[in-house]
Amino acid sequence: MAGSKVYISKTLAATTVLMTFSAIIGIITMIAVYQLEVMSLPPTKPPEPTTTETIPTGPPPSMRLPGNVIPESYKVFLQPYLYTEISNVTNQTFLFTGNSTVQLRCMEKSKNIFLHSKDLVLKAIRLTDLDENVNLEVTHHVNESDSDSNFLEIRVENEVLRENGSYSLFTAFEGILHDDLEGFYRSEYEDQASGEKRFLAASQMEPTDARKVFPCFDEPAMKAYFEITIIHREGTTALTNWPMTASGSNTIIIDGESWLVTPFATTSKMSTYILAITVSDFTSQPSPHREGIKVWARPDAVDAKHTDYAATITVPILEYYEEEFGIKYPLNKLDEIALPDLGPGAMENWGLITYRESALLFVEGVSSETNKEWIATIIAHELAHQWFGNLVTMNWWNEIWLNEGFATYMAYKGVDKVEPSWNVKDLIVINEVQEALEVDALTTSHPLCSAEEDIQTPSDIAGLFDVITYSKGAAVLRMLSYYIGENQFKMGIRSYLNEFKYSNVVQKDLWRHLQQAVDDAHRLENVEDVMKSWTQQVGYPVVTVNTNDGKVYQEHFLLNKTEHMSTLQWQVPIITVKDGSTDKPITFLLTDEVTKSEFKSDRWVLANVNRTGFYRVNYNKENWQRLIQQLETRPNEIFTINRGQLIDDAFNLARAKYVNVTLALDTTKYLKNDTEYIPWQSAVHNLDYFILMFDRSEVYGPMQAYLRKQVIPLYEYFENYTIHSEVPESHTAQFNQINAISVACANGFKNCTDMASSLFNRWRENDTYQPIHPNLKTTIYCNAIAAGGEDEWEFAWERFQNSTVATERDKLRYALSCTKQIWLLNRYLQYTLDPNKIRKMDAVSTIIYIARNVAGQALAWDFVRAQWNYFSQQYDGGIIALGELIDEVTLRFSTEYELQQLKQFQAEHGEDSLGSASRALEQAIERTEANIKWVKENKRTVLEWFRRESKTAY
Ligand SMILES: *[C@@H]1O[C@H](CO)[C@@H](O)[C@H](O)[C@H]1NC(C)=O
Ligand SMILES: *[C@@H]1O[C@H](CO)[C@@H](O)[C@H](O)[C@H]1NC(C)=O
Ligand SMILES: *[C@@H]1O[C@H](CO)[C@@H](O)[C@H](O)[C@H]1NC(C)=O
Ligand SMILES: *[C@@H]1O[C@H](CO)[C@@H](O)[C@H](O)[C@H]1NC(C)=O
Ligand SMILES: [Zn+2]
Repeated sequence: MAGSKVYISKTLAATTVLMTFSAIIGIITMIAVYQLEVMSLPPTKPPEPTTTETIPTGPPPSMRLPGNVIPESYKVFLQPYLYTEISNVTNQTFLFTGNSTVQLRCMEKSKNIFLHSKDLVLKAIRLTDLDENVNLEVTHHVNESDSDSNFLEIRVENEVLRENGSYSLFTAFEGILHDDLEGFYRSEYEDQASGEKRFLAASQMEPTDARKVFPCFDEPAMKAYFEITIIHREGTTALTNWPMTASGSNTIIIDGESWLVTPFATTSKMSTYILAITVSDFTSQPSPHREGIKVWARPDAVDAKHTDYAATITVPILEYYEEEFGIKYPLNKLDEIALPDLGPGAMENWGLITYRESALLFVEGVSSETNKEWIATIIAHELAHQWFGNLVTMNWWNEIWLNEGFATYMAYKGVDKVEPSWNVKDLIVINEVQEALEVDALTTSHPLCSAEEDIQTPSDIAGLFDVITYSKGAAVLRMLSYYIGENQFKMGIRSYLNEFKYSNVVQKDLWRHLQQAVDDAHRLENVEDVMKSWTQQVGYPVVTVNTNDGKVYQEHFLLNKTEHMSTLQWQVPIITVKDGSTDKPITFLLTDEVTKSEFKSDRWVLANVNRTGFYRVNYNKENWQRLIQQLETRPNEIFTINRGQLIDDAFNLARAKYVNVTLALDTTKYLKNDTEYIPWQSAVHNLDYFILMFDRSEVYGPMQAYLRKQVIPLYEYFENYTIHSEVPESHTAQFNQINAISVACANGFKNCTDMASSLFNRWRENDTYQPIHPNLKTTIYCNAIAAGGEDEWEFAWERFQNSTVATERDKLRYALSCTKQIWLLNRYLQYTLDPNKIRKMDAVSTIIYIARNVAGQALAWDFVRAQWNYFSQQYDGGIIALGELIDEVTLRFSTEYELQQLKQFQAEHGEDSLGSASRALEQAIERTEANIKWVKENKRTVLEWFRRESKTAY
């Protein structure tokens, strides 16, 4: 799966609180995306069997399938009853019916079969002994109160299942296509020409919702062959993972209505979580490069060529992977479909990848460069999953990082292939490495790889789809690839994929193959020893380099250093450079403290070149001063990525009290002479915390004055483009132009706010002509609405309602949260309760946007508390992450009063009503306590620093 994190955060690339895209990541970890809101009840044991015979088939000791019976192949029929057109509303029904015949092998003498089934009404169950060709007498049992296991137990009454026996289990069932975005669900959109509502059926199985579509053995290692037949209304197209069989669809008449029966070819051996089905009236655009590759969307969107970009880049990325991984994509078809409603950003279902519209449809002249990067990244991510995940699958969810870490890491390589000028291989540092370092410094973080027994319930599983799994996973793979060499890395993963195709792995299998590649190249690195320290331990180290005595050592980096004296050690690949040195970088593997005579120097030393390592670096004071001096004199002598690193490390070291807060602030002084995106982005991201802490206090004035002073040169650097609503050529320059505008406008630089209002008003006066460049829309809409009143807001709201382009709607939806008018913000909050105004999948992020606005902070928090029951009911079991809501809405909390409110909220709602948000609430309390302390300790110093620095001339 792919989250919407980058997208959401990048959407925010402009705000009145100086928030740019990564400012939100790490905070919005995975909004409305990865996390399933599932009740976090303790695992309940499945029922005791009622048999008195002494057959060794007791119930499984945990939530896991016992493995006494395994599936070999399924034959599944599904018939969704919905009409796509609302004009049939009198008959409109969202029922689906189906049946499944699964061939089983019995592994040991057994009396019962456990499989998964959830929210299905079972109509018939039949167990057949295939060897004897007789039906067996069975009873079945679904323990409704046991909401976590979702077990359907089939008990054999008068017989015993034989070891090695072949059986087939037939189930007939029916279910409802809810609009809950999980399992088999319905989605809807408006047909542009007629203005009519249209329905479609779609699916989202990962991680544990295939069981809502048909009874099945819903675990990733229970791979089987699937032969699916869809019975659907005439005039619709059904898609599933594999292509239609050669014979094609048949028309049949059922109860006087005609239906299409579409049979699909039997799949390869695959896991249930990557199954997919869609039934819609969508049309498709074929790839110009390869037969069988199609991009599907609403007919309006295909006609308007919104599918062009995706259709153009898919095959080049796919073919790059085929080459890189040394294995052909095994299907002769690949469908990518843009769904109006989807929980995650996208889902990698084998052969039928589903996307949110904003993750697939690029609208020339409307979508921004950020949208384009997001689309390319998500496509590359999902395509990488066709190998990492679909072909080779983790044995159990505790190692889901083997899917997500690889897909995230490989996506940067894939995008680099199709958009080489973007330099995304550098951007991985901002988008993934920096984000993961931030989250992994918290005591609430978790190791990349959890113990299998700790991941049992659907909510345990859903909880793993987070920044650690995605971004830290990608970051440590990147580190490993540099450490053992890119070629060895490539050889290792090739043989790994090849050995385990169509089956399952644990991470040791990966280490073994990479080790083989290292050995074959006559190198000495020990892959497993090094990587174990990164995947099995929580957190990461700060490496201290002291140029006075040449000592280098590491310790566990935690924001709250006092928490506990951790003795964790990592095997840290270190790459360093030295001022003025023409020598090759000095590289070594740090475990225990060492003394490097080369580092004893009165010239600066810089460690973690290009930030390939997953750690922070601290130095003695003198070396810090020399580095800052270098930044102020000739910044370009330090690599761009490392300029960003110095800022990011300094700010985080200051928060953890390794260095003074003034040293961190000092790293931003040189920025008036830097126009590069990565350093600016690091600064903007880190200063965001200062803004959150101080935008309600007297620090804010001097801070704004300082930021204004620093950003004016950058604003002016891009001004010629900006005032004409144009953008520079380079990808990262385009991003930094957005930073320039956001920071300048947010800090009251009048040229900027006037520019924003005037462009917006030109559009308002003649809304048939859009004068604002797509890249600049988010920040300009936001700043114009912030500066304006009801008229500006209403205009944007109307545009929001009338736009059918998802990315445009997202920009407007965000910008609407920027107003300073309390009553408008309050009314906007109310709109999130009405799915006709704000789609369900967008409600939580809209509330979060409002909370991000200092004027909306208190309103949003009151609203969340007042509507808590609504949210927990509406989104119970849905994909909306209530934890994220709590997390985000309380981000600014830094007073005793707010702390009391949090504690009261916790006391009022027990664990049950908080569900998955209870951990988030605990974290919010911990964070608020830390904020209170931080503000107390730093406010004076920070105020003085900003006062002083905002005065000095440059
Ligand atoms: C409703 O659906 C039926 C069957 O698909 C179709 O024949 C009929 O024309 C539809 N009715 C309307 C009003 O569109
Ligand atoms: C659909 O509705 C029409 C008119 O209300 C009715 O005649 C027809 O029998 C219905 N079809 C089904 C399958 O219920
Ligand atoms: C399963 O459903 C399909 C479609 O309704 C039907 O044709 C088939 O006979 C059913 N299978 C069994 C074994 O009843
Ligand atoms: C740090 O951790 C300690 C021990 O758990 C805790 O008491 C303290 O409140 C924490 N400090 C901050 C600033 O979070
Ligand atoms: Zn993914």
